[in-house]
Amino acid sequence: MPYMQPRVPPLPTSLDFRGKTGLVTGANSGLGQAACLHYLRHNISTLIITVRRLSDGEVVKSHLLAHPDVKTRKEEPKILVYELDLSTHSSVTAFASKIKAEIAQLHIVLLNAGIFTLDWKTSPETQNEMSFQVNYLSNAILSLLLLPLLRITAESNSSQGPSYLSIVSSQSYSNSRYIKDPIPDSTYIFDTFNDKGSFEPWSLYPDSKLLVCLFVRELAQHVDFSTVIVNYMCPGMVATNLARDLSLPLRILGRIVTTLRGRSPEVGARVLVNAAGASGKKSHGEFLLVYDVEPVISWMETEKGKLMQRKLWRETEDVAQNLVPGVLQSAGLAN
Ligand SMILES: NC(=O)c1ccc[n+]([C@@H]2O[C@H](COP(=O)([O-])OP(=O)(O)OC[C@H]3O[C@@H](n4cnc5c(N)ncnc54)[C@H](OP(=O)(O)O)[C@@H]3O)[C@@H](O)[C@H]2O)c1
Repeated sequence: MPYMQPRVPPLPTSLDFRGKTGLVTGANSGLGQAACLHYLRHNISTLIITVRRLSDGEVVKSHLLAHPDVKTRKEEPKILVYELDLSTHSSVTAFASKIKAEIAQLHIVLLNAGIFTLDWKTSPETQNEMSFQVNYLSNAILSLLLLPLLRITAESNSSQGPSYLSIVSSQSYSNSRYIKDPIPDSTYIFDTFNDKGSFEPWSLYPDSKLLVCLFVRELAQHVDFSTVIVNYMCPGMVATNLARDLSLPLRILGRIVTTLRGRSPEVGARVLVNAAGASGKKSHGEFLLVYDVEPVISWMETEKGKLMQRKLWRETEDVAQNLVPGVLQSAGLAN
């Protein structure tokens, strides 16, 4: 890993989201909040922000609206605050139902919320391991649930171009233990991720981000990029609250490293907003670093990698279909 991270140039001033509606998850902190400000600076008309606690959302909304770059806009943006907790399926499905009922058009979805933990924790509702649930499974299900609205929006006004569905991943996916030690063909991926007996603290995060990569690559094969561009990206190392669950010594170490080497949230979020709004059809199914498509590690193209991608897709389809019967048909992914 080079000591200095590559420079991320400012987003082009010509980038204009006027007339569009965007959705950012995890908007009350770090990259999510910084991404919201970029969308607002670039004239987004309606911004849907999701938070775990509505009171946090109202605070962020006030901060965003009070920002000089937002206050001086000619048209005042609409900011809508929604509650979303990715640790439970009930919150994900309730949120998606509300969006379907209340929002007519959706041009951009940036699934940013995520966690970094070294501890074994499970969702009290699903019993799934928490990094797997929050970073992967809930984001995958939410993608399937929001896809129809993204598609209809693009189809109803083709002059605005395709919609975007982007999930924040991490370059650390390449450190997943399942690349060196693949999950046997006969074993369910979800069972492996939920097996406390084989849990490795430092692998929880990269493992969950590997699943994001595999899911987006597969999803892109089922979605027409002329209506919805699906991609994933890494913002690089960014000084945020991501390490909040780690022990004090690790948090101090992390703070030192990110101070020396990390990007600011404002800079890191440029990568997110470019992917989810400006990267174009070439980014469909691809991984973005800075503003460019980054080749994935060669393992992804091996038989083992492709097999894990297909298995993950089937297992995800099953869970989504059990949770919301007809979700795949609505998303245009099944007959
Ligand atoms: N920072 C980096 O160096 C870096 C590098 C690569 C990728 N990323 C990715 O960037 C994304 C944003 O992270 P960040 O660095 O900005 O960290 P952050 O400051 O900790 O922000 C994380 C956001 O996710 C939300 N979140 C956490 N658990 C959630 C849950 N169960 N349901 C809904 N929302 C939840 C948090 O809300 P609460 O405040 O309510 O917890 C917060 O808004 C993550 O996906 C992370 O993996 C970060």
